[in-house]
Parts: sequence; structure tokens; C-alpha cells
Amino acid sequence: MAVGIFDSGLGGLTVLSAIQERLPELDLVYLADSAHAPYGVRTADDIFDLTTAAVQRLFDAGCDLVILACNTASAAALRRMQEAWVPNDKRVLGVFVPLIEAMTERQWGDNSPPREVEVKHVALFATPATVASRAFQRELAFRAIGVDVEAQACGGVVDAIEDGDFILAEALVRSHVDALKRKMPEPNAAILGCTHYPLMQETFQDALGEGVSVYSQANLVAASLADYLERHPDKLGSGSPAFLTTGDPAKVSSRATQFLRRSIQFTAA
Ligand code: DGL
Repeated sequence: MAVGIFDSGLGGLTVLSAIQERLPELDLVYLADSAHAPYGVRTADDIFDLTTAAVQRLFDAGCDLVILACNTASAAALRRMQEAWVPNDKRVLGVFVPLIEAMTERQWGDNSPPREVEVKHVALFATPATVASRAFQRELAFRAIGVDVEAQACGGVVDAIEDGDFILAEALVRSHVDALKRKMPEPNAAILGCTHYPLMQETFQDALGEGVSVYSQANLVAASLADYLERHPDKLGSGSPAFLTTGDPAKVSSRATQFLRRSIQFTAA
């Protein structure tokens, strides 16, 4: 019995770790589409084609429920997948909604009209494709009023992390935070809207300053998944745990081991 976790690369491991901490008994099949990462500079059609191919691979591995642990795929492809592609007996969930529910102080499935919330000025850091989709602003508008969102497309950060070049990733994060602050000098909250960015969380926090609450998705998604599985135990699927990649398994295993500080062995998808 296994749930599928998908990301273009290694960022989704931040979500996988939080899920393993919260649900240690749950088996997971992780798929990294490393051969095609990063997704954040691709068109919406391209992201849709790549994401559906990857999710199909996870369905074929016995998963009935797949978490898109990738904001870019969630923003650019999920709605279209849910409307026209996901078979009736399967479920695909994204990473946006749990984060927005936490920020707007809502419980799961609270569909009451949008209302005023504590945070007023929110900085969103995400990939160029996520920013271009405006999916975050759309989901937020369903739940909150009077929130000013300034989005910063963080070009280059995912590539630097995938290459294991943290010196470059840190320099890029600092320059993207500076660019954001020129547009919004005093954000109350910042959202790390890409699952790779928690690997740089300290740099984001340091560059933003102590007064800014930094929201990242891993724990929120893990809590939402625990809640979902309690209500839908039939979605546990039949697969066995695995780490799959479309890229070079040796290279991806070594980076993943470095990120999670424990041995992770990927095999070819
Ligand atoms: N981790 C992804 C996200 O959350 C991936 C980004 C990419 O491939 O550009 O957006």
C-alpha cells in the first residue's frame, strides 16, 4: 500500500520527509522527473504533458493517490488534470491549498465566503511558471479579502539546488529577496511557494528579517494528507515503497542523500 509523491526533482523530498515524520507507517513511492527539471521555466502545456506522464507512472506503480509535491505542476497543470484527465478511481492533490488554508486560518473544507485575515502584505517566492499562473492569488481570493500579494519569480534557484551549488543558490535567494523588498518593503509573511525552497529556508529568513513569518508547505501538506487518509482509507493503493527518477539514478541518489542526510537510493523510473 503506497501513496505517490511527485516532483520535477528533489524539492518534493522536503514534503516526503514531513510525511514520513507524521505518518511513519505509510509507504511512499517518490518520483523525481529529474530528466526534465526544472519545470519552472516551461510552458503550461509542457508542464501538463510532463506531469501527466509522471503521475501515470505512479498510477502504474500501484498508487491510487498522488501528491503533486511541486507548486509549478500544482499551479500550471492540476486544475486541468482534475477536470479532464484523472480517472474516477484515482486522486491527485496539490500543495497550494493546505498552505492557503493555514494562512487564512481555515479548517479543511471550510467553504464560507472570503473574509479579512490577520496578514495583509504577503511576499510569494516561486518559480517563473507558478508566478505567471497566478494560481496562488486565485486560490487566496476564494478565502481572504484585503490581502496584498507581491510575487517574486526566483529564476535559477531550482537549478542551483539540483546541481548541489548552495553558494549560488544562497546568492540568488538574497538577490530575489532584495528585488521583492524594492516592491514591498515590509511584508508580514512570506510564502516559500516551491518545494525546493525549504532547503534554503534559513537564507530566506535571514534576508527577510526576523519579523517576517516564513510559511513553507511540508508540515502543512503532511497534516492535510493525514486528515485526508483518515477520511479516505480506500486511497492507500497497492504499491511498494520506492524512489524513482527519470534522470541518472547514481547522481540523483547522491544529491538526495546529501539533502536528507540519510541514504536514499533511486532507481530508474
Ligand atoms: N519543486 C518545484 C516547485 O515546487 C519545482 C520547480 C521546478 O522544477 O522548477 O515548484
